[in-house]
Amino acid sequence: MLPTKENITTVGRALRQGMLAGIPTETVYGLAANALDGAAVAEIFKAKGRPMDNPLIVHISDFSQIERFSLVRQIPEKAYLLARKFWPGPLTVIMPKGIAIPDEVSAGLDTVAIRFPSHPVTKAVIAAADRPLAAPSANTSGSPSPTTAGHVYHDMQGKIPYILDGGICEVGVESTVITLCAPVPMLLRPGGITLEQLKDVLGDVEVNDAVLHKLKDGEKAESPGMKYKHYAPKADLILVKADDDKFIRFVNDRADEKTGALCYDEDMPLLNVRSFPFGCKGDYTAQANRLFDALREIDETDIQTVYGRCPDTQGLALAVYNRLIRSAGFEVIELA
Ligand code: TXA
Ligand code: MG
Repeated sequence: MLPTKENITTVGRALRQGMLAGIPTETVYGLAANALDGAAVAEIFKAKGRPMDNPLIVHISDFSQIERFSLVRQIPEKAYLLARKFWPGPLTVIMPKGIAIPDEVSAGLDTVAIRFPSHPVTKAVIAAADRPLAAPSANTSGSPSPTTAGHVYHDMQGKIPYILDGGICEVGVESTVITLCAPVPMLLRPGGITLEQLKDVLGDVEVNDAVLHKLKDGEKAESPGMKYKHYAPKADLILVKADDDKFIRFVNDRADEKTGALCYDEDMPLLNVRSFPFGCKGDYTAQANRLFDALREIDETDIQTVYGRCPDTQGLALAVYNRLIRSAGFEVIELA
């Protein structure tokens, strides 16, 4: 339904009563529940089919709610610096967990992830609920995150009572996750706020190994979400790291009706296979915005193998790269 004032009030009340709702944010759609209600939060895991050991992000609509609802034990100095610069916005900050956070939210960790989103509808829903909202991305666990209300409907129909339609998400990939519960602040998931922007404010920022590489067997995931297979289309996706000509030739050499390309917009006229463009080369904003929708489009076809462009790793492209290598199960072909 549309996010009218009346509908937002209805959804706010339902959330306070322990129900779930799909809501837009500036990053991706979220599947929200009252973060202070462990039983309501447990329903999120059921609807998504999400492993219980993967903690959720708590969303606020005002910085003062952190203390008002006892969400964290103590606000680290650096959290104020980040908040001043990037909140409201696509940044999640991990802090020591407060007494009000149920175990379902933090998955038993002694930390909690907090985000103050900028989308006016998200803020209005949190304010209407008058509760902080736990919200993972509103997809079935393992699928690409939803960037339209239609994506949420596709994954969640029959499982949740409300979906608010706020149109297409502006950023298109999930928020940046940084932990302040480490000796040096550490990037756990790249997103709408770039590593470069974080370093400008904090100085030293480490990058967790799982951002760029596959975790080795038995290696501990700092961010539990990083260890799961993620964002995967049904087709076999393989990234091809090559210059423009070589990419086109490589794909065209393998052209048949069961093969596709996840490509840059300008590749399209040159390819002899069904193509799924996700923005122009170098236009990282467009790539982030388009990526998940392009991955979902592949699922609407019976294509079996998709060759994908290997994104850059600077600025917002790091977030695109991080998602795509997971979609591809870390399968990358490098052409010399
Ligand atoms: O943009 C977003 O962040 C979206 C919208 C809805 O706000 N939400 C989102 O939530 O992407 P989700 O659950 O799909 O991803 C949360 C990520 C997971 O990788 C999880 O493991 C990590 O954050 N996370 C949450 N709490 C954590 C904690 N205490 N320590 C380490 N990682 C944590
Ligand atoms: Mg997710």
